Order: sequence, then structure tokens, then C-alpha cells
Amino acid sequence: MLLNSPSNPTGAAYTAEDLKGLAEVLRAHPHALILTDDMYEHIVYDDFKFATIAEVAPDLYDRTLTMNGVSKAYAMTGWRIGYAAGPEKLIKAMAKVMSQTTSNPCSVSQWASVAALNGPHDFLIPRNAAFKKRRDSMLAKINAAPGLTAPTPEGAFYIFADCAGLIGKTSAGGMALSDDLAVCEALLTEAHVAVVPGTAFGAAPGFRLSYATDDAALEEAGQRIATFCQGAR
Ligand SMILES: Cc1ncc(COP(=O)(O)O)c(C=O)c1O
Repeated sequence: MLLNSPSNPTGAAYTAEDLKGLAEVLRAHPHALILTDDMYEHIVYDDFKFATIAEVAPDLYDRTLTMNGVSKAYAMTGWRIGYAAGPEKLIKAMAKVMSQTTSNPCSVSQWASVAALNGPHDFLIPRNAAFKKRRDSMLAKINAAPGLTAPTPEGAFYIFADCAGLIGKTSAGGMALSDDLAVCEALLTEAHVAVVPGTAFGAAPGFRLSYATDDAALEEAGQRIATFCQGAR
């Protein structure tokens, strides 16, 4: 079972209680391995308390692989460092595959990641506050746009909008909005706003938008999305 909380593409996150419930189910299926991608651990809002399954269900440790990386919390995407903790046999097998394929992550990136992980984390407070402001502003724009609705994400920097209200309509530029792929294509062609169709995540009809960009670009994108939705007939 693959877990990803806070999630890409929705920003939704599991509480410790949610994870305990999932662990209960997993106990009944001892053959199931668990991979948890905790990449957005540090990007949470509204006092949400991050939890991970190895912490709330240590009895499942022998079949849990906990994964993380420096790309999101430390904005170090280009350094290409991810890491994992789990049962020795799994880590040994991973090391074997890595050593025969990429050889290793370079030492410069490894040391930079050590500095990020061991360094002060107080920057997360203003950074998350800036992200939260962007989340709230985009969320308000999405929920005010005719045909779109989105729940409030607990973390990450994505909003997942349901666009069922646009399906079957025609855009102002004459494009048939037959499904979420068509909605995203029309948004790109007519409003020049890039979003990812929900179909790509097995969640149609909807789309993911990322608010990991500057305030001015988000303001402009939000207005363009609103105009696009208002123009659909
Ligand atoms: C949930 C999740 N895990 C992992 C990654 C991978 O990040 P990277 O390849 O930059 O380490 C991403 C990137 O978008 C992500 O959203």
C-alpha cells in the first residue's frame, strides 16, 4: 500500500487517528508492504499535526518503508536527494539496485542535505505562513468560480478542484468541455493557465493546481480562471 500524506495532488493529510485505522486494516493483511511518501511532512497548515504510520503502528515496522527527501521542505529539488528508512533487508536490496544503476547520489548533494536536515528549521514558520496565505487566496477564488469547488487542503502546495460543473459546457473560445482533459486544454489555450487533469491521478473530473509560485502570478492566474469559468456556457 502506497501512502502519501500530505498528498500530491490534493494536499489532504491523514491524522494519527486516520493512520491507526489504516494500520488496523493492514494488520489483517500480513502480506501487504507499506510505502509511505512523507515528502510534505513540514508543509502543513492550521496547526495540523503530521504523523506517519511507522510512528503510530510500530508493530508494522518490518513491512513499512518510510520515504522522504529535501526537495520540498528545503526547496532543494535540484539537489536530487531522497532517503528512506525501513527494515534492513529492504534497505540492503535498495542499496544493491542503486549501486548497480546510478552508483550513488553525489557527495556534494548528500552533505548539503545533511546541512538542511540538521540546520535551523525556524524558516518553516514564515514560509508556511506565506504558503497558507496563497492557499487561502487561491481556494477562495476557486470556490467563487462558477463550476468549480475544492476542499481545504491540510498541507503540501496543491489545490484539487472538482470541475464537474463545467463538464458539458462550451468555453468562451468555443472549445467543448467534455471532460477534465478538455477543461485543462481549454484553460491552457484560452486563459494560458497550466493545471494537471484529475484523470492523470485517477480522479476525474477535476484538476490539480500548484500555488508554489509568487503572489502576483497567482493573483493573475486566479483571475484568469474566474473569467474562464464565467465565460463557459
Ligand atoms: C509526493 C511526492 N513525493 C516525491 C516527489 C519527488 O520529488 P523529487 O523527485 O524532487 O525528490 C514529489 C515531487 O513532486 C512529490 O510530490
